[in-house]
Amino acid sequence: MNTNKIYLVGFMGAGKSTVARALGRRLGWRIEDIDEVVEARERATVSEIFAARGEPYFRLAEREALRRLLPLEHVVVATGGGTYADPENRRVINSDGAAIWLDLPWTAAIGRVPADGRRPLASDRAQFAALYHSRRQAYQQAHLRLDATSPVEELVERILDWLGY
Ligand code: S3P
Repeated sequence: MNTNKIYLVGFMGAGKSTVARALGRRLGWRIEDIDEVVEARERATVSEIFAARGEPYFRLAEREALRRLLPLEHVVVATGGGTYADPENRRVINSDGAAIWLDLPWTAAIGRVPADGRRPLASDRAQFAALYHSRRQAYQQAHLRLDATSPVEELVERILDWLGY
């Protein structure tokens, strides 16, 4: 496992971007966020991309964003909630770095992710629940699982300990 690169994976609302920032600061590493890479390249927000071009287009852009980050080292990557659910992305991530699953309990997921339209796949609550349950099997393939409800600083310490930093 390559410990020079960390991928944070997990469901919407797990705190992937927040933990990536805190971890990047501690390690002095660069931080990348797949959603932000997609938004910058498309010059549109994730919800605009879903509305104008549909989910399949977003998934292609997401895969391309992941590919563009492959040459980087000493970087913490915050993935989108669906990035690691894709088998090919999962294979790429697991061989390119250390995949850490921020596991968010269901009750916390509903509380943390409002159906406000900012996340297109959170508006329909039945679909949101189905996604939550169907993706757990994928997230389980990460190298490490942590409880996403732990305080951010504790998560950072656990990750640093686990990596031996
Ligand atoms: C998605 C999660 C979002 C974003 C998009 C799709 C998903 O990222 O990539 O709305 O499929 O779970 P966050 O997990 O950062 O909210």
